[in-house]
Amino acid sequence: MTDWNPTQYLRFGNERLRPAIELIDRINIESPKTIYDLGCGTGSITAILKEKWPRATVAGVDASPNMLEQASQDYPTLTWQYADLNSWEPEIEPDLIYSNAAFQWTPHHQVLLPRLLETIKDGGIFAIQLPKNWREPSHASICEIARETQWKDRLEPHIMENPVAEPLDYYDLLSPFCKSIDMWETTYMQVLTGDYPVLEWTKGTVLPPLLSQLSSSEQKDFIDKYKSTLASSYPKRNDGNTIFPFTRMFIIAYK
Ligand SMILES: C[S@@+](CC[C@H](N)C(=O)[O-])C[C@H]1O[C@@H](n2cnc3c(N)ncnc32)[C@H](O)[C@@H]1O
Repeated sequence: MTDWNPTQYLRFGNERLRPAIELIDRINIESPKTIYDLGCGTGSITAILKEKWPRATVAGVDASPNMLEQASQDYPTLTWQYADLNSWEPEIEPDLIYSNAAFQWTPHHQVLLPRLLETIKDGGIFAIQLPKNWREPSHASICEIARETQWKDRLEPHIMENPVAEPLDYYDLLSPFCKSIDMWETTYMQVLTGDYPVLEWTKGTVLPPLLSQLSSSEQKDFIDKYKSTLASSYPKRNDGNTIFPFTRMFIIAYK
């Protein structure tokens, strides 16, 4: 598995931060004692959780050595745990489990999400944000190129199917264990600058596991094909900027 590149990921730090903060702002909890940020990445959002609830013990959990190294470098006083969310269990019963843009990498939601919800204190909260962009050209065209070309045999095992279900599926999955659920979706019309900014975006997330299977000349061919799709799906506007619409789903489950 290719590790994450924190520098590439943080190129769009502002766009990635906004939904994380909007989720935090909607969480209705007085004074949580124990908070876990699952799939914490570079830790910038874990630090915001600590700022918002300074008396809480806050720990960031992630399976990427690169991301955790960046997190512990930038926020040395916070607690960082290396773990795979599929098997992770909290050391202390949490008041709040928070996760921004991480569960799209752990596809078995039917099992994983109720299991995690079960670990939370009664009266506690499970707050997550999931990107819903797998069917958009930015992501779908990557899978199409990988499946339709001479690289199919090598790339197909590394293609991730759409991991994110619909809001009603999550409602039915989580509501048997909750007092109430607050859910919403937002489409951010992200204004990006420069040439092929959507390529730069996916270089920080979904592209590396596929590109790492190819030689450098094959990578160039792959990217050229991808760029031609991006040019028609996300054309530059009159001012030279590119609009990259991005839908995200938010779920706050009150136990
Ligand atoms: C898109 S980043 C989000 C990072 C951070 N939450 C943020 O919003 O900036 C996804 C993170 O999930 C982590 N991740 C993916 N699969 C994971 C797993 N199975 N266990 C733990 N962390 C995982 C990745 O290492 C990565 O840091």
